[in-house]
Amino acid sequence: MLFALRPSSSPFVLCVENQWQKIKSPSSNPTRWANSISLTVLAPLTRSRSYGNVPQPHAILYYSQRTTKGGLLIAEATGVSETAQGYPSTPGIWTKEQIEAWKPIVKAVHDKGGIFFCQIWHVGRVSNYDYQPNGQAPVSSTDKQISSQEEIETERDYSPPRRLRTEEIPLIVNDFRLAARNAIEAGTYSSLTTFWKRRQIFIHLLLLLFLGFDGVEIHGAHGYLLEQFMKDNVNDRTDEYGGSLENRCRFALEIVEAVAKEIGADRMGIRLSPFTDYKGCWDSNPKQLGLYMVQSLNKYDILYCHMVEPRMSIVDVRRNIPDRLLPMRKAFNGTFLAAGGYDREEGNKVVDEGYTDLVVFGRLFLANPDLPKRFELNTTLNKFIKLTFYISDPAVGYTDYPFLDE
Ligand SMILES: Cc1cc2nc3c(=O)[nH]c(=O)nc-3n(C[C@H](O)[C@H](O)[C@H](O)COP(=O)(O)O)c2cc1C
Repeated sequence: MLFALRPSSSPFVLCVENQWQKIKSPSSNPTRWANSISLTVLAPLTRSRSYGNVPQPHAILYYSQRTTKGGLLIAEATGVSETAQGYPSTPGIWTKEQIEAWKPIVKAVHDKGGIFFCQIWHVGRVSNYDYQPNGQAPVSSTDKQISSQEEIETERDYSPPRRLRTEEIPLIVNDFRLAARNAIEAGTYSSLTTFWKRRQIFIHLLLLLFLGFDGVEIHGAHGYLLEQFMKDNVNDRTDEYGGSLENRCRFALEIVEAVAKEIGADRMGIRLSPFTDYKGCWDSNPKQLGLYMVQSLNKYDILYCHMVEPRMSIVDVRRNIPDRLLPMRKAFNGTFLAAGGYDREEGNKVVDEGYTDLVVFGRLFLANPDLPKRFELNTTLNKFIKLTFYISDPAVGYTDYPFLDE
């Protein structure tokens, strides 16, 4: 009886199940996302406010401000282990303390009926000794350092990485597996009262097991560790993780397989950016790379593939891709999410044209906590303030952007 209410394969709490079905089968839902508050997706946005790599109580307000019933939120990039870190005050999900700290944040999103995925990452060589345990070298597919030009442009200091030994790679795969498990378990039991009041105690008992993040998004984009393996200008390995396209994608796909086995393929997505060239990481044949990845992902039947538009590349020539993400969208069997430079009008257009199922918003959602409502009303938007993207203040540039009615 209980499973009839909530299929055992579904990770989602009952209160958002209907909305989730729209996301899961968007083609069966004629509602355009911009006119439906449930279908505006929050992009993963690093906010550098998790002091000591522990999520803080102020994140409760930040995420709940951006939650609508049935809306999908993808949490900021969250480290899978001590060696995964490379930026100030980014959260992790490998310690008990971090898992506990996520719980009230996840609960706040669920209490408002949102669907919450945790983006899990490892930065690889996009790091330096200061972020690494015992001041050791960051790990990567390679021992090639990020260029000094890149250091100047990003105003950051990168240390020479240490090439992972072949036998160490399964350990990182395992870190992703454990992080995914921790994300699913980052739940609370405190919605008991709500359910009790509704006399739905039996449903609640079932849900007790599943009140953490609804799923995870593997960060396979933007020049971080997975891309350092996938892209041929960085990966110079000679073992089974280097050389051919198949070998270069092996690490990312091993992570997908391990996470799918651990938490279920229907609770996971992956973010890819085959066309971007961030952190000195690019590929000589990005379309082939993108296609190979989505075709391989089809074998695992994961919930979604989230891809970044080529126009987000830094180098001009790499932005000029006439059919953009369409070949990958066509080749992928699951739900397709597109991100990068969208506004309301273009978002509506690409969904109407079937170019993507959902559109993900970064900077606009950062600056407009009530973005779904503003889209619905087709009204003015707050401008984002770049200077405060990554400052460590618990409120400024974070939870102080005004709502429409303020
Ligand atoms: C402040 C900031 C933080 C970001 N952090 C992340 C992150 O943690 N993970 C990620 O995959 N992308 C990250 N991005 C990229 C965004 O998710 C998004 O792809 C990008 O902003 C482009 O979308 P937009 O044009 O809608 O802003 C970040 C972007 C910004 C502006």
